[in-house]
Amino acid sequence: MTFQARGRAVLLSLLLCGAALPALAQTPPVPAILATPEARDIHSYAQPLVARVTHVDLDLTADFANRKMTGTAALDIAAASDAKAVVLDTKGLIIHGVTDAKGTALPYILGKADPILGAPLTITLNGAGRIVVSYDSAPDGAALQWLTPAQTAGKKSPYLFSQGEAILNRTWIPTQDSPGIRQTWTARIVAPAGLKAVMSAEMLTPDGEPVAGGGRAYRFKMDKPVASYLIAIAIGDLTFTPLGKRTGVYTEPSVMKKTANELVDVEKMVEAAEGLYGPYAWGRYDLLVLPPSFPFGGMENPRLTFATPTIIAGDRSLVSLVAHELAHSWSGNLVNNATWSDFWLNEGFTDYFENRIMERLYGKPRADMLADLGWSDLQAAIKDAGGLTGADTRLHLDLTGRDPDDGMTDIAYQKGATFLRTIEKAVGRPAWDAYLKAYFARHAFQSQTTAGFVADLRQNLIKGDTKLEAAIGIDRWVYEVGLPNNAVHIQSAAFPAVDALAAVYAKGGGAPLARWKAWSTPERTRFIASLPRALPVERLATLDKAFGLSAQGNSEIRFVWLELAVANRYAPATPSLEAFLTDQGRRKFVAPLFKDLMAQGDWGQPIAKRLYAKTRPLYHAVTRQTVDGIVK
Ligand code: BES
Ligand code: ZN
Repeated sequence: MTFQARGRAVLLSLLLCGAALPALAQTPPVPAILATPEARDIHSYAQPLVARVTHVDLDLTADFANRKMTGTAALDIAAASDAKAVVLDTKGLIIHGVTDAKGTALPYILGKADPILGAPLTITLNGAGRIVVSYDSAPDGAALQWLTPAQTAGKKSPYLFSQGEAILNRTWIPTQDSPGIRQTWTARIVAPAGLKAVMSAEMLTPDGEPVAGGGRAYRFKMDKPVASYLIAIAIGDLTFTPLGKRTGVYTEPSVMKKTANELVDVEKMVEAAEGLYGPYAWGRYDLLVLPPSFPFGGMENPRLTFATPTIIAGDRSLVSLVAHELAHSWSGNLVNNATWSDFWLNEGFTDYFENRIMERLYGKPRADMLADLGWSDLQAAIKDAGGLTGADTRLHLDLTGRDPDDGMTDIAYQKGATFLRTIEKAVGRPAWDAYLKAYFARHAFQSQTTAGFVADLRQNLIKGDTKLEAAIGIDRWVYEVGLPNNAVHIQSAAFPAVDALAAVYAKGGGAPLARWKAWSTPERTRFIASLPRALPVERLATLDKAFGLSAQGNSEIRFVWLELAVANRYAPATPSLEAFLTDQGRRKFVAPLFKDLMAQGDWGQPIAKRLYAKTRPLYHAVTRQTVDGIVK
């Protein structure tokens, strides 16, 4: 691919220390995993074996009027003794200058920008161990979304939030934006008067400090090394409510009451997680519930999970998302994917772990329902990837020349989790749990490759047992396409009855209202999803009326209903669809619905185009980028 040729060969040979790159001694030493060939990150310009960022110190002002972050990033560099330069990742940044710690200017070159990777910033070190980059972010930088007051719950103050994963943080922080290069960090952030800044770190000044010239400065510290995609910020009219002794939630004042009420079990979740895989390593566990344009369900920013308000259903039925983001505190934040090809190490482990937390807290029947819905998601993801021979059905992804985002499908989550369940079944839960707990401890605060995990698994669990090795088929699971036939499918004991009622309804039977009322959210979701995709208008209308589907406040049920409605060109649901696509911007809901509309020819395409013209400006860049590829 062109960006690799350009980024690596040219810059390296011209500006660094030659083509062969032995890991020359650095202080602190280069983490062993980074020296393995599998850890080479094609989505970063960084050359960590030559010079590596070990600490980031941000001093930034959030300029809402001009929609930019402006200030400095001071970086500590560990460099090989003959290293001449350090290479950083940037995308759209305006660089004003680079100095050493004493303020002496350092030469730098901002290379040509690649549409996916951005531009390498190559800085001549002249022996410096600390460099200071002065810069502005661009108003359209993809990580940051600057919201108008109208896009918030309170409607009075503007709001800013960031989303770093996968390679978006380079649009507001000039550092080595590679998940294998862990960095500690600190920050001082100046926010406008009346707004509060929060970050994924220890909050040193909860109320901020006055700043000459207006606004307040907030200081933060993350003293554990983390991947750069985990640095996150939000600024807005925020308030805090404690949930337990080390847990709490930040959100806007007008939605705090219902938000805190939804999240009462968070402290218990942390305890359940610790009971499974060892002590929580990050101190506090808080959540930030964002405005509805947050593009994901949740994001596992350390110490401060970011979450969509669409999980606030009113009945605590969607809290498995919290279990998921919390689980990442082990599988993702403690031990994270070294490259984006290893994404399944984050999400497959976390999906598995999420389900174990749900089982512990709410029992096996509920956990089984969620796992069984996951199995359906896996079947859909395989279909989307082109069937069992599709290249992207592999756990270890080939992302050559692609945006990492393109490979991030439910395969990583659901095939990954299914793989771990398959190992669990082969060795038994006690042995598997003991292994996982020890695995997290062994690799704590380190990045991991697929090859590294597989080697660890062989060394510490399989231990040369050839029968066990063959029964699992590790290499086939991680490196090959499709789904091995030893895959463990967890089946909910409750679903056959739900499916049967859906079949009866499809054939003209009555809407099972009493059952519907008694059902949990997964059962309701299953009922709608298990109806045939083609239904007569009368069947849709009766269902809509009986269950109040178009007016559903539960986002998961509303979503599966709208998918069914669009598949049938059921016009009475269009106002509900329009409201849903306007009121929230979670990509998991928005992208499939636009796709469904575009698949409905001259009925759906005009609706999609009309709606997207209106909703596009409301969405975060992550959602926009995906939907831009759908609505053309
Ligand atoms: N880390 C992911 C979100 C993510 C994935 C960001 C890929 C950027 C690229 C997060 O933990 C996640 O998986 N969120 C899910 C929720 C979960 C319950 C499956 C989501 O947003 O839907
Ligand atoms: Zn996740």
